[in-house]
Amino acid sequence: MEKKELLTKGKAKELYKTADETKLVMDFTDDTSAFDGKKIEQLAGKGTVNNRFNNFIMNYLEKKGVACHLLEELNDHESLVLNLDMFPIECVVRNYAAGSICKRLGLEEGKKFEHPIFEFFYKDDDLGDPMINDNHIVAFGWANRDEIRILEDLTLEINKFLIELFDSADLILVDFKLEFGKNNGQIYLGDEFTPDGCRVWDKDTKEKLDKDRFRLGLGDVVESYQEIAHRIGINLT
Ligand code: TMP
Ligand code: ASP
Repeated sequence: MEKKELLTKGKAKELYKTADETKLVMDFTDDTSAFDGKKIEQLAGKGTVNNRFNNFIMNYLEKKGVACHLLEELNDHESLVLNLDMFPIECVVRNYAAGSICKRLGLEEGKKFEHPIFEFFYKDDDLGDPMINDNHIVAFGWANRDEIRILEDLTLEINKFLIELFDSADLILVDFKLEFGKNNGQIYLGDEFTPDGCRVWDKDTKEKLDKDRFRLGLGDVVESYQEIAHRIGINLT
């Protein structure tokens, strides 16, 4: 489907309109951003890995019964997706302590939680994506209580499916972020699931293979994304 004018430009993706207003082209760029856009670099090949990675994960989740926005892979860095009305919310689930929860609650990185922790964040870089709860979401009219329950249940269900997938490749799924939207009253998984939006460690060495390599300046960012992809069976060629 022919790509028309740019609709929105995110930090690592661009969304384009098409002749069909219900469909968009999602273009994964090589731009890599961290710390709410304060650190940005171009990493050759990242767009391609992320496009293929996201499509593999969304196809896997669809097979498990999760409705996803992906319609069709168009080329190595672009895919056709359903045009969703997005909730301005980030749904995060954490299986192990890492990242912002360590700072917020004084936890040591690497502790496995007794139960996955679900958290909502407000998607706003200028505010540093602050943590919010159900009451904020209802009060601001972003979603109703039933939708909030669905977002939480879906995220925790997806966590179970993805833990299974990563564990079988000797990888630990530490945490991740999802974004959802609506089309015709139905909730779909939108945005992306790639190593840009999750933490993945090697099971034996605990080596970080996700965007923390970029945040922490550890190098080999795209190579590590490729390593995860290879291990879970994604064909990058
Ligand atoms: P955090 O530790 O910074 O709160 O992030 C938790 C997980 O969610 C981590 O895998 C990164 C991901 N995430 C994003 O991809 N984008 C975001 O804006 C936020 C807040 C988290
Ligand atoms: N996703 C945010 C950014 O790109 C936060 C992060 O990943 O550190 O700036």
